[in-house]
Amino acid sequence: MGIEQVRIIEFPKLLDARGNLSFLEEETHIPFKINRSYWIYDVPGGEVRGGHSYYTNEEVIIALSGSFDVILDDGIDKKTFSLNRSYYGLYVPKNIWRQMENFSTNSLAFVVASTVYNEDDYERNYEQFIADK
Ligand code: TYD
Repeated sequence: MGIEQVRIIEFPKLLDARGNLSFLEEETHIPFKINRSYWIYDVPGGEVRGGHSYYTNEEVIIALSGSFDVILDDGIDKKTFSLNRSYYGLYVPKNIWRQMENFSTNSLAFVVASTVYNEDDYERNYEQFIADK
């Protein structure tokens, strides 16, 4: 399981003069059962989030508003994704080190996750992450 499993999921978009609409359905668009959603907002300029991997949790990350970069690292390869469209989701499998940075003003990161929150599922030590490979 590595970075080759990371992919962009495109959600439907209904373009309308009244404003656009997108949606996601677990069964149609998400490659796991959704057990949690969370969102990250009001990130001060220059701040970095993440800096961890999960042992079991999988996620889809969406830039609902604004933009930010997600830097992914499977211990061998690194890849940066710049998210700036609300109809794209970034699928991040388990065991991928990830960092989020370059948040634009008023950006909103929405995340659907496969597990409920569990601090024991986090690896926050990069050396340990590499050693576990
Ligand atoms: P963390 O996952 O470290 O944030 P990020 O990866 O975006 O930097 O979470 C920050 C804090 O919030 C930490 O104390 C755990 C808590 N938290 C929850 O209680 N529930 C959640 O669903 C998430 C994602 C975090």
